[in-house]
Order: sequence, then C-alpha cells, then structure tokens
Amino acid sequence: MTRHLPGKSASTAVPVHPLLAERWSPRGFDQGHELGDAALTALLEAARWAPSAQNSQPWRFLVTRRGEDAHERLFAALAPGNRAWAGTASALVLVAASTVGDDGGSQPWALYDTGQSVAALVTQAQADGLAVHQMGGFDTDAVRAGFGLADALTPVVVLAIGVPGDTAGLPGPLAAREAAPRTRRPLSDLLLPARSGAGLAAA
Ligand SMILES: Cc1cc2nc3c(=O)[nH]c(=O)nc-3n(C[C@H](O)[C@H](O)[C@H](O)COP(=O)(O)O)c2cc1C
Repeated sequence: MTRHLPGKSASTAVPVHPLLAERWSPRGFDQGHELGDAALTALLEAARWAPSAQNSQPWRFLVTRRGEDAHERLFAALAPGNRAWAGTASALVLVAASTVGDDGGSQPWALYDTGQSVAALVTQAQADGLAVHQMGGFDTDAVRAGFGLADALTPVVVLAIGVPGDTAGLPGPLAAREAAPRTRRPLSDLLLPARSGAGLAAA
C-alpha cells in the first residue's frame, strides 16, 4: 500500500473514493524500488483505455527506468527544481500528445485526452501502491530534439513514478513542501452561476 503522510489525504465535504482522496504528488521515493514490467504494463493499460474524442487516442509514452541511458537523458532535461528530487523515482515517463492526426488535420482535444489518460494512469498507480508526480517543468525543445520526436507530437509532462519513500535527502524548502498539508480552492469557487443570456433557449 502507498504510504500516507498526515495532512496528505484530501479534506472533502463528503467522502470520495480513497484512490482519489489519498493520491498526492510525492518528492521522496524509495530508491531501492524497481518498476517491473507487469507493474509498468498495468499503468500503460490504464492509460490506453482512457476515453478520447472520436477514440483518437492521441497519448504517447516514452518510458525510461532508473539506470537506463534514456533515463539519464530525460532527467537532464528536467528543470533544476525537479532535478532536486525526481532522480530517486523508479521511472521517468515522457508523455506526449499527437496534436496532428494521421490525415494532417489538427486534433483539438489531444491535450485534454492525454490528460485524461494520465489521470487514469495515476489512479491505477495509486491502486497498485505506487505514486506519480507529474512535471511540466522540463525543456520541451531538448526532449523533442534529444529523442527525435515527430513534429506532430507535443511533449506535455514528465511523470516521476515510484514508491513514496525517504524524504531525508530533500533540500530544506522541498522538505517543507513535502510535509505541508495539501490544499484546494473551496468547491464554491468552482461553480459557475447559471445566468440567463441570449442564445440558449429552454426546451
Ligand atoms: C501539468 C502538471 C504540471 C506539474 N508540474 C510540476 C513540476 O514541474 N514540478 C513539481 O514539483 N510539481 C509539478 N506538478 C505537481 C503539482 O504541483 C501538484 O499536483 C499540485 O501542487 C497538487 O498537489 P497534489 O498532486 O499532491 O495534490 C505538476 C502537476 C501537473 C498536473
């Protein structure tokens, strides 16, 4: 099971599923853990079966595991603040979206769909005792050139995946953020008023 820290469980108005409430984005990982093929495949299968516009399935994954040359190269492309902690994760996965379809047309939902596939992957990881920390902080040009990505692919995030673990090696500010409770806007901030306006008529 995933290790839970005090304050990391979401505080919700009514109960939500523990897979959602207890997910969080750790910066300390168990350096002895290796992500095996079966565990990795489960994550990718969860992502593969996500819904997408017209079943276009625009998500692509470049998987690297700690100790591999590709892992070193992907790690080097991370922003300095992410390099401070992400190297201890068992795997770094580059997620890209195919924003241009096979017919050359644009795929306007590609980023949305790719995010959904990552959400499924993250939830599967949580169910399997793993954790995922998503990172937008990386050099997309370096990744594009370094891995020879096709022009149709847009790098979106890098995922640090592993078993939450020791945080003793984290620099001070990151250790403090690791220990801080998770917060969110209140639900009331998220709800838009259903104003009446021109253009939509009630049936
Ligand atoms: C698209 C995206 C980009 C993110 N980029 C970074 C990042 O570069 N570095 C980092 O430490 N966390 C990053 N995060 C993690 C968020 O900071 C984190 O999800 C948020 O603070 C909420 O915390 P929680 O996931 O523990 O609930 C990113 C998350 C997402 C979804």
